[in-house]
Amino acid sequence: MLSYRHAFHAGGAADVHKHAVLALLLDHFRAREKPFSVIDIYAGRGIYGLNSIEAQKRKEFEHGIAKLIARPDRLPLLNSYWSAVDAINEAALTRYPGSPQIVRHGLRAGDELVANELHPADYEELQRWAGEDPRIHVHRRDAVEALVALVPPSIRRGLVLVDPAYEIKTEYETVSLAVAKSFAKWPQGVFAVWYPVLTEDRYITTRQKLLELIPADILQTEFDLGRAKDYPGMQSSGLWIINPPWKIEDAIDQAGLWLAKQLGQERPARHRMTWLRQVKP
Ligand SMILES: C[S@@+](CC[C@H](N)C(=O)[O-])C[C@H]1O[C@@H](n2cnc3c(N)ncnc32)[C@H](O)[C@@H]1O
Repeated sequence: MLSYRHAFHAGGAADVHKHAVLALLLDHFRAREKPFSVIDIYAGRGIYGLNSIEAQKRKEFEHGIAKLIARPDRLPLLNSYWSAVDAINEAALTRYPGSPQIVRHGLRAGDELVANELHPADYEELQRWAGEDPRIHVHRRDAVEALVALVPPSIRRGLVLVDPAYEIKTEYETVSLAVAKSFAKWPQGVFAVWYPVLTEDRYITTRQKLLELIPADILQTEFDLGRAKDYPGMQSSGLWIINPPWKIEDAIDQAGLWLAKQLGQERPARHRMTWLRQVKP
């Protein structure tokens, strides 16, 4: 189907939540000298223009990154995220980094990024964005198949970001099955799986399947976007983190609470963190 285009949503509050958590996970990997790899299996483009027709149509970034980036009291814990946004902008906010760019911003010489995108136009854009960077490998494959085929990576310390558009309703199940197969091939990997909370609670099926099939710690971070209760679209943005790095929950909770104070629309935003399973507290 592939009618979803992330350019319409770039920099919105859901992106801020997802990318702030991504930046904290990357900080964890960078804390040691050992190289790490990231597989971004639903990568989208590298960078989004906020003056584009798509971004201007709904101006979602005005409820997200635009509320935060110029604040003098930006949370220092999120410095990697702020610097990824600052690095591609001059005085005014005109561009927003997609997940591959957030990863690239923090890659060191020996680290690696695999970025996969199926949409032909976004794939082309992603290839252009990657250029000749030897640390980045771009693929155009169906993510459900690639998620299993591309693991384990040759650098065995790392993260898989699973950020589907959930355009096809069956994805709520196929994605969890693919993550479970991928985990079985790479049980040391950290997996971050994004989900939307919509009026239909299909994400609950995904969560149940992950819990049933994956015998590992799973941390849930959920950001209520503070939209009107009767808003027909996404109410919350969430991530399930499988094999969360040691103590990451403290950083995610602190960041989530800070973001919740700044964002929100018709209602205040809220952040909630839950252990779905914690074998080793
Ligand atoms: C939510 S967007 C990704 C946003 C990106 N991860 C970020 O945070 O900046 C989902 C992307 O997955 C792509 N996509 C949809 N179905 C796919 C599939 N079966 N395989 C690979 N990519 C797919 C879409 O074209 C879209 O660009």
